[in-house]
Amino acid sequence: NGTEEIPGPTGLPFLGNIGTVDSEVPLTSFLNLADQYGPIYRLNFAGNPVVFCSSWELINELCDEKRFAKSIKSALKEVRNAVHDGLFTAKMDEPNWGIAHRVLMPAFGPLSIAGMLDEMHDIASQLAMKWARHGSSVPIMVTEDFTRLTLDTLALCAMGYRFNSFYHDEMHPFIEAMGSFLTESGSRFRRPPITSMFYRDSTHKYFEDIDLMRKTADEVLKARKENPTDRNKDLLTAMLNGTDPKTGQKMTDSSIIDNLITFLIAGHETTSGLLSFAFYQLLKHPEAYRKAQDEVDEVVGTGPVKIEHLGQLKYIAAVLRETLRHSPTISQFSVAPIQDEIIGGRYKVPKDQPIVLLLAKSQMDTTVYGKDADQFVPERMLDENFDKLNKEFPNCWKPFGNGARACIGRPFAWQEALLVTAMLLQNFNFLMDDPSYQLHIKQTLTIKPKGFYMRCSLREGLT
Ligand code: HEM
Repeated sequence: NGTEEIPGPTGLPFLGNIGTVDSEVPLTSFLNLADQYGPIYRLNFAGNPVVFCSSWELINELCDEKRFAKSIKSALKEVRNAVHDGLFTAKMDEPNWGIAHRVLMPAFGPLSIAGMLDEMHDIASQLAMKWARHGSSVPIMVTEDFTRLTLDTLALCAMGYRFNSFYHDEMHPFIEAMGSFLTESGSRFRRPPITSMFYRDSTHKYFEDIDLMRKTADEVLKARKENPTDRNKDLLTAMLNGTDPKTGQKMTDSSIIDNLITFLIAGHETTSGLLSFAFYQLLKHPEAYRKAQDEVDEVVGTGPVKIEHLGQLKYIAAVLRETLRHSPTISQFSVAPIQDEIIGGRYKVPKDQPIVLLLAKSQMDTTVYGKDADQFVPERMLDENFDKLNKEFPNCWKPFGNGARACIGRPFAWQEALLVTAMLLQNFNFLMDDPSYQLHIKQTLTIKPKGFYMRCSLREGLT
């Protein structure tokens, strides 16, 4: 009847529950609190109440777009300092979201993404060459190298720009700036505004980083305008030439810059985290590893991975899905009620009150995945089983978000992850550097494995 209190820890009068949440890995606290308080609980961050939901049933309810819309009150609000109403951070009623969404949808369609395979292959080969040179005596810094890969791939496919991260030890200044910008965006969100006077230096650096990112993107845009190319499949071309079919409007330069930076931010850590967790899981599960490698040998053989192979890599697709179930690299996203609402049949939540969908917990719900929900079982994610699960338990697997605001880059990420996993299994044998390694999480806006190293040796000649 909407009168029941949402449970949660009591907080301090001014800071609320800031002390309840681990500052390094907030996710650990959110998961522990779900164990303690159940599938719905509330926290308060310096006066801002937030509700956390983590059962499949509640997530399913919250995915109803007629009742709930994306909320931008979390760390995303800080990310807006750099990319404003770009696709990821736009509020639902900002017109630039609709324009960019409609202009870009075809560019993210399967055909356009298939046209990017050669450039994805180009960067993936640079990674494979680096690992081949390393040989088995040097531990591979898995997440660092996958991040080089995903950033370079995005910059090349989106705007024809080469960061050349595999040719330098230190990262490109844009990448340095983006890294510290993202970390600082997370911290700024958790700090009460009144403490800002203690953070003058970091605030100064924060706005310098934003400046550097925008200037770099602006230079790429200007260079492209001065030297039009025949790169008709890339995202920058789509944004420069596209017209919104609904309003007839073109994207402004500033909106193009917002979105170029958005793609780099949204697409690199997420995909690099997925690849890192996938290799961690394969090494922890030798049977799954063997099946995945056998599949590559059968489907691709020893030649280059081609577009027609990707759809046939059914087991690897299942490995990637199961990886994102266990370790959704965006571990949560937020919505808010469009009107005052009652959720779960008994909890009142006012209009605009942020509600977090805690995927890292809801995707482990035993109602959906059974007693072995906490086990890594790629077989449950093979096409037929996956379709059955989604029919029986709608919205049970949400690592790419929901509805109109779901991930526009999903086909891009999927193609890249399939290609890279297949290429690496085809060419190398991998081992855990430290066989006793236990998974630890590093959290920024996304999650990735911390301190995870592998060793590799070449199987046959590189393709
Ligand atoms: C949105 C996950 C890769 C661009 C989202 C959302 C999630 C997500 C959960 C919704 C966030 C929310 O509701 O607040 C992922 C994962 C990826 C991935 C797990 C990789 C495994 C990419 C790539 C790109 C990209 C490669 C760009 C090329 C975007 C954009 C949005 C988005 C622009 C905002 C869409 C909108 O609101 O219109 N992603 N993403 N993502 N993603 Fe991804």
